[in-house]
Amino acid sequence: MERRSFLKTLGTGMGAVAVTSSFDAGTVGRVEAATRAVATQTPLAVAENEDYWREVQQAFTVSRRMINLNNGYCCPSPRIVTQKVVDYTWQQEEAPAYTLARLLPPFREPVRQSLARVFGCDAEEVALVRNASEAMETLLLGVDLESGDEVVTTTQDYGRMRTALDQRRRREGIEVKMFQIPTPAERNEDIIEGFKEAMTPKTKMILMSHQINLTGQILPVKQVADLARERGIPVMVDGAHSFAQFQFTLEDLGCDYFGTSLHKWLLAPKGTGMLYVKRDRIKDLWPLMAAPERMDDDIRKFEEIGTHSEAPYLATGEAITFHNAIGAERKEARLRFLKDRWARRLAELPNVRIHTSFDPQMSCAIGNVELVGTEPSAMADYFWDKHKIIVVAINHAEFRGLRVTPNLYTTLDEIDFFCDIFEHIAKNGLPKSA
Ligand SMILES: Cc1ncc(COP(=O)(O)O)c(C=O)c1O
Repeated sequence: MERRSFLKTLGTGMGAVAVTSSFDAGTVGRVEAATRAVATQTPLAVAENEDYWREVQQAFTVSRRMINLNNGYCCPSPRIVTQKVVDYTWQQEEAPAYTLARLLPPFREPVRQSLARVFGCDAEEVALVRNASEAMETLLLGVDLESGDEVVTTTQDYGRMRTALDQRRRREGIEVKMFQIPTPAERNEDIIEGFKEAMTPKTKMILMSHQINLTGQILPVKQVADLARERGIPVMVDGAHSFAQFQFTLEDLGCDYFGTSLHKWLLAPKGTGMLYVKRDRIKDLWPLMAAPERMDDDIRKFEEIGTHSEAPYLATGEAITFHNAIGAERKEARLRFLKDRWARRLAELPNVRIHTSFDPQMSCAIGNVELVGTEPSAMADYFWDKHKIIVVAINHAEFRGLRVTPNLYTTLDEIDFFCDIFEHIAKNGLPKSA
């Protein structure tokens, strides 16, 4: 039975903030209690502890009418996060001229600080933006470049980011050098070598994904950033998928710029992202929307976007609490366990290629599988039309297959059912009408 929501009033310097707590606001508490109960076990042992993950699964409002194995698109939030978006939205509606203009914005600051703690940087280096696209385009368009300057990236970096670079090519005459990485890559050296070979004295910037969205391949950011630093080249890291999927901090990357979506693996409200800019790089990076000169040195210049809802940003605080309640290492281990469960089983089939390494350094939640000779789009359509299973067909010039991405709420039964259907197709082919 749902209990009625009740209002709690917090005193603040600017006025009263109404905070609604509701019937299932204790969910995080239940997850925290479950985590305490497994605290002595290793993350790898917890990854297989279904009693624990059952508790986590209960925190979501996802529908079991369908099996969503496309969490690479963006992820559902736990119930508590969605509730907070609703709560903050109601507060905004009380009198936007006051609540949205004055009351709520200062509460971004604790969220900024919590994000900085998760990422391991200073809060004054963190901007709250709308998604990874906004974060990365701020970086890719915000650095001064001249005609003939070169930018290095891979052929598997995200389309929108390559489009941003291509627009600079068309507008300003920069050169974009793209190279291929192996699929799957089993050795960091092969990737590092590609970057090394592509860099020339004219290289002014590197764009690299921390994790390739098409295959789940994790790239060796630190080694590339170290190499680039020796040559005075800044590295812009597209961490749309890596942040809060697997455990790392800024120190593990050693880069000056990082952008991510928070509505992916942090499970934050839709329309949230994070931009990290190293303190001494802020001044020289132009924001996407103009900001006054007095803000030149202020990370908040990247947040000057006009009127927008504060609710998603504020409710990101709840998403961080949820993330911390599970713990980054346990989360990573579970996500890899889920990917390995389907990928190792399918890898046994004849005619199957897994385009994702099984090395834990190289992959986590995301995997890509090809049934050789079967059109990935036809398979994805069949999975949805016949079984209401969501997977994505990937058709890239260098490989093709289905991208499969479970999440913390995914049950083993759902994964096994997906594998049963895949096996059936591998054995019998797709039905003629599919
Ligand atoms: C590697 C990569 N970068 C950037 C993005 C853009 O993320 P968003 O749509 O949240 O801006 C995505 C989205 O899937 C992605 O996979």
